[in-house]
Amino acid sequence: MTDTDAHPLELTGPQMRALVDAAMDRIVSHVGSLPGQPSFDVEGGAELARSLVEPMPEEGTAFEEILDLLFERVVPKSFNTAGPGYLAYIPGGGIFHSALADLIAGAVNRYTGVWLAAPGLVQLETNVIRWFCDMAGYPAAARGVLTTGGSLANLSAIVTARREKLPSNFLDGTLYVSDQVHDSVTKAATLAGFPPESVRQVPSDSAFRIRIDDLERRIVEDRAAGRTPFLVVASAGTVNTGAVDDFDALASIASGQGLWLHADAAYGGFFLLTERGRRAMRGLDRTDSVTLDPHKGLFLPYGTGSLLVRDGAALQRAHALEGAYLPEMRQESEFVDFCQFSPELSRAFRGLRVWLPFKLAGVGAFRRNLDEKLDLTAWATRQLRTIDGIEIVAEPQLSVVAFRLLQPGLDQQATNRLNRDLLERINRRRRVYLTATTVRGQFVLRICVLSFRTHLDRMEQGLEDIRQAVAELS
Ligand SMILES: Cc1ncc(COP(=O)(O)O)c(C=O)c1O
Repeated sequence: MTDTDAHPLELTGPQMRALVDAAMDRIVSHVGSLPGQPSFDVEGGAELARSLVEPMPEEGTAFEEILDLLFERVVPKSFNTAGPGYLAYIPGGGIFHSALADLIAGAVNRYTGVWLAAPGLVQLETNVIRWFCDMAGYPAAARGVLTTGGSLANLSAIVTARREKLPSNFLDGTLYVSDQVHDSVTKAATLAGFPPESVRQVPSDSAFRIRIDDLERRIVEDRAAGRTPFLVVASAGTVNTGAVDDFDALASIASGQGLWLHADAAYGGFFLLTERGRRAMRGLDRTDSVTLDPHKGLFLPYGTGSLLVRDGAALQRAHALEGAYLPEMRQESEFVDFCQFSPELSRAFRGLRVWLPFKLAGVGAFRRNLDEKLDLTAWATRQLRTIDGIEIVAEPQLSVVAFRLLQPGLDQQATNRLNRDLLERINRRRRVYLTATTVRGQFVLRICVLSFRTHLDRMEQGLEDIRQAVAELS
């Protein structure tokens, strides 16, 4: 009996290498084929899903067979979210550097919930948070955490604001969002214990930014009615149209009224690395907390968001835990026990997914890529304007443009139907994948350029497909 027969979970060096090599062969050819893959392919998804149901396997299966299953049957049946034609929702990306970091982090499997267990690795993640805080213009006292995504970051932000601004009996608290807010914020408010009526939806203006005058009026009215306004959640890049709220004005209101100001910059935040992004998000440095999603604006694979809080002690007060069984926590402010700042105790070492790409490629590579995304969106908008019947519903403020097709004599319902048809016709070509949204009753198509793999060649194909689809409908 060999060691491996006796201990099948402990692989030998050659076995580890063989598995990684075999997986790498598939990964390299998969990534190489991304531009040629359809932008989505989910027909027969239910049949596939049903065919995969099986009992827990008692015995192992050959790796080649598993790789065949994954790369030939399972992975292809999906939206091509990592490909250059993915201009839908908010694209992710999937830089390989982070996949490599996950392999290393998983293989060494050190514990990064408390500083003492891996001081060096925790420092690397602390550096990442510091870099983000510097980018956001937050002071030295700021702290933050990497989360699984923007939704969890928004939840921790609301819990922190609630803890700082309201008594433990907090049900009189009201929070303010715009009618363009991402639903994860409303959901987070519910999870944080607020009934839906505590979330005040303030109308947005013609550029889809929260209306400052209405916000101020609602706050004053609520206070007069005995409620306790405590939080404004504003957006730095809405999911619908990429709108950026006026943070300078919001910060003045929030500080005047004693409210916490949180920025949901899950989509837009990393454009702060660019000159244009900084201009668009002026005043963001005056917020109390901010959500940023590396799995959006830094092109990471899904699974990494972040929350930064200006007063790090506030984040800690909302998330600290004690346990007789835990090692001693750090008292020095330079070191961080992440379990004191986040809902998690045991946690994946997410820091490496961000740290490694920054170290390997340098921040300049990200900045240039983000600048390219801004250029491509501006280019697409100019092109759309040249198509007869196309109305730009939302000018790009970052890298989203929203548009629709108008035809004479059609009412709103018919126009919406026409645009559903347009979307279907564009996507049918499978070179790009666009999604739509509804704003103010209008069904609008959106182009969101955020994949690091999207370049001018694919945008040209996308515009060609839009032109053709419009021509078919004329
Ligand atoms: C503006 C905004 N906020 C929050 C979220 C939620 O982030 P996640 O999907 O990472 O939980 C999204 C997702 O697209 C978003 O666009």
